[in-house]
Amino acid sequence: MRFDVVTLFPELVNSLIASGVVGRAAGQDIINLTCWNPRNYTQDRHQTVDDRSYGGGPGMVMKVEPLRDTVRDIKQQTVFNAETGRVIYLSPQGKRLDQAAVKELAKCSQLIFIAGRYEGVDERFIETEVDEEWSLGDYVLSGGELPAMVMIDAIARMIPGVLGDEESAEQDSFMNQLLDHPHYTRPELIDDLKVPAVLTSGNHKKIEQWRRQQSLGRTWLRRPDLLNELELSDADRKLLDQFIAEHSG
Ligand SMILES: C[S@@+](CC[C@H](N)C(=O)[O-])C[C@H]1O[C@@H](n2cnc3c(N)ncnc32)[C@H](O)[C@@H]1O
Repeated sequence: MRFDVVTLFPELVNSLIASGVVGRAAGQDIINLTCWNPRNYTQDRHQTVDDRSYGGGPGMVMKVEPLRDTVRDIKQQTVFNAETGRVIYLSPQGKRLDQAAVKELAKCSQLIFIAGRYEGVDERFIETEVDEEWSLGDYVLSGGELPAMVMIDAIARMIPGVLGDEESAEQDSFMNQLLDHPHYTRPELIDDLKVPAVLTSGNHKKIEQWRRQQSLGRTWLRRPDLLNELELSDADRKLLDQFIAEHSG
């Protein structure tokens, strides 16, 4: 899968492929990350990419032409397919990103991200060149680079071959509308804190059941909104009722 990021700070975005899971995926050519600097698409000596806001007020706005020319060049150079690729503007005004959206976006062949700066980008660029706007949450960051990096990381994890067997995403929070169960590693006893006995019992059926119950229970405790959207099986209902009874006790 191809990720192209339009950014004034390519060194920041490129740090994503310097290490970790995403770095390994890039090394194995499972993903490709390329940054494009709109300053390289300016015509003036100062490489101007921003200007004052019409109507006055503080802050600069990113101009249409450098962004538009960058996106059009990316599309041409990378043979962009409009059916399977999308142009995404990172914006606090966009739809809030969640795991379901991440899974959908991972089916694309190419994503072109536009990282805004200053007060944002000229609205006419969004109207003519952008397919979708995505937000990380209800807060404002100083640029779209971190949101682009977050999206690329989350999406890359969904691409077959990016995670090794041991890192499978299936059990992760939100993959099945539930939060993940708690995890423990060695030593078995630290200070007076012991790993739950079931996890060292060797009984795989019991371990699976315990994990499922913890997942359901955690979601009930921390994110009841997720449970409301779920149709629980009889077995899950029983596990959750038991958890609630024990917790209340
Ligand atoms: C300082 S912000 C501009 C905010 C804009 N004036 C507003 O209030 O909607 C600069 C850039 O950071 C990025 N950004 C900021 N917060 C974001 C968020 N929550 N999600 C995604 N991108 C964000 C966008 O690309 C935006 O153009």
